[in-house]
Amino acid sequence: MNEQQLNEAIANPRNLGEMADADAVGTVGSPECGDMVRMWLKFTEKDGQKVIDRASFQSFGCQTAIAVASMATEMLRGRTVAEARELSAAEMSVPLGALPPMKIHCGQMVEGALRAALEAEAPTAVAAAVVPAAAGHLAESLGEAAAAAPGKLRVVFE
Ligand code: FES
Repeated sequence: MNEQQLNEAIANPRNLGEMADADAVGTVGSPECGDMVRMWLKFTEKDGQKVIDRASFQSFGCQTAIAVASMATEMLRGRTVAEARELSAAEMSVPLGALPPMKIHCGQMVEGALRAALEAEAPTAVAAAVVPAAAGHLAESLGEAAAAAPGKLRVVFE
């Protein structure tokens, strides 16, 4: 794992925060570690194709999830929906180097949030994995999820 890249991403995460004018939002939560990641996507059209104009995220999760989400939201810019669907947690984590086994699920949380957002973009799909997705602040979902599963969520404020 590239500690320098990790520390830089944590110290200065890119595209952090809610996106008021997003076209899609997806949320995932892990019952095991209690972390949550939400991703917002804004689309535009380029050369007749729908592409991601920008992406942002919120994470009440560990630092690895924040670092991967930061990298992912940068990588997503300009990708078509099909290309974004192909993006794996491993690919999003490449700038950080190989994640240790106990941190692989952190990248998968980011991938899950992206997939949930991409599903939300499709007219018939539901944008949630584990917890309901909504466009509001992630803290609201944490409160809802904590009420639904007391003792299962861990919130880390930095
Ligand atoms: S997202 Fe659960 S420990 Fe990193």
